[in-house]
Amino acid sequence: MLVTNILSSHHPKSQTRELVSVFNEELAAQGHESFTYDLYEDGFQPIMRGDDFNQFSGKPLPADVSAIQAQLQKSQVLTLFYPVWWNGMPAIVKGWIDRVFSKSFAYDYGADGTRGLLTFKKVIIVATLGNKKEDVDPQLEASMRFINETGIFRYSGVAETEQHFLYSAFSDEESKAATLERVRDMARRC
Ligand SMILES: Cc1cc2nc3c(=O)[nH]c(=O)nc-3n(C[C@H](O)[C@H](O)[C@H](O)COP(=O)(O)O)c2cc1C
Repeated sequence: MLVTNILSSHHPKSQTRELVSVFNEELAAQGHESFTYDLYEDGFQPIMRGDDFNQFSGKPLPADVSAIQAQLQKSQVLTLFYPVWWNGMPAIVKGWIDRVFSKSFAYDYGADGTRGLLTFKKVIIVATLGNKKEDVDPQLEASMRFINETGIFRYSGVAETEQHFLYSAFSDEESKAATLERVRDMARRC
């Protein structure tokens, strides 16, 4: 199975980067293949502009977007690994969705309404938070879950969106070990 990861990590020692690397390690141990888009390292341009809007007139999309879409079409699982910033995904990840989940690729609409076009077996979201769970209003996590699952992925045809909100996950050795085991378990269930 091919798993494609979208990673938002703005520094080499970020916990989010460590999580994706452990996830990939366990995928390989399970005999799965993985490919990671490292959005900062790759210099991904997240602003929707110019030829990105060709999707609404059936003209070709920018080459970087078409290449990512070709990779996604080969993948059975898509993951997003990102730190929560202001109770949502960082702008670089939101911009990735804006540009890559284009009309006629991720969804389409016509006289019969809208339909999702993505065929992933599942999407996994791993979102790290600096705060402790008890310090965060649970409605904030519920809102993020709802927008991700219903507003983005179900709309685009994905039946299963698995979401993990990891609060203050590396605060001590015990919670770090438990978090890494949780990530390995995600890989084993791919
Ligand atoms: C701009 C910004 C906004 C943030 N917003 C939140 C937030 O809304 N809730 C929270 O718990 N942590 C928040 N944080 C903390 C990050 O989630 C935390 O630093 C991150 O999960 C650590 O992962 P990393 O090492 O991969 O960057 C924010 C950090 C930054 C820089």
